[in-house]
Amino acid sequence: MEPIRGTDIEIKIGETIICYDDLGNGEIPIIFIHGFPFNKSSWRPQLEFLQTVHRVIAYDIRGFGKSTAGKADASIDLFADDLIHFMDALQIKTAIVCGLSMGGYILLNAAHRYQERFEGLILCDTQCNADSSEGKEKRYDNIRKIENDGLQEYAIGSLKNLLCKHTFENNPNLVTSVHNTILSSNPKSVTTTLKALAERNDSCSILSEISQMTLIVCGQEDAITPPAKAQFLNEEIKNSSLVLIDQAGHLSNLEQPAEFNEAIEKFITTTLNRF
Ligand code: MLT
Repeated sequence: MEPIRGTDIEIKIGETIICYDDLGNGEIPIIFIHGFPFNKSSWRPQLEFLQTVHRVIAYDIRGFGKSTAGKADASIDLFADDLIHFMDALQIKTAIVCGLSMGGYILLNAAHRYQERFEGLILCDTQCNADSSEGKEKRYDNIRKIENDGLQEYAIGSLKNLLCKHTFENNPNLVTSVHNTILSSNPKSVTTTLKALAERNDSCSILSEISQMTLIVCGQEDAITPPAKAQFLNEEIKNSSLVLIDQAGHLSNLEQPAEFNEAIEKFITTTLNRF
């Protein structure tokens, strides 16, 4: 049976229900993986822009948006397996996959273990490094705070690192919307995923094995995964190119959607023209 297409479609994959949007047409789909602690709606500007010429799919990672969390312990390995099971359920053999930040951690993990499923990679505002011991401690501290007091303080604290000065000064709607999305996340999923992020492995040693065409995108003012992290990915992944986006922080796809869309569209067209 052909999988259903459209917006807010739910599909049962193992123990979880994964909610996704699947729009537009094209032989090789472009799949988008959101960052933490967001959901598929953070790819709206890209889906709207690309759906006229490509098949575009964004899904909620388990525990986020409208996807259920399931019982298994959250980990980047589990999320990467979910991506592959999701592609299987939608009968997608290969795709170009775009991941932002945590989405990039998931993509690097999956691209290493299931190389043949990826035609091209788009790594946005992400890195190959694991957390430093200080970074880990901060995550566990945040877990304790969220368990005791909820998401309020955590949301305010994250917001200032996620967006750049230009966004705070010129795009109050985006600031409010990002803040509200964090507040509306499921606190339990936020804490279990913070643990998964703290415990994730370094993936820098696998970069030289990536053979797919790869685009690396990073906001010039990304305070969480700064341009130096993107430049490192670009140096280590052989078939890669790098685009740095002005007046953008960690959420470059939302802060400067026009520049971001132009960069990924150019990459997708070049990658697909090779077939
Ligand atoms: C994200 O945007 O996914 C997170 O900032 C990733 C992280 O905290 O390492």
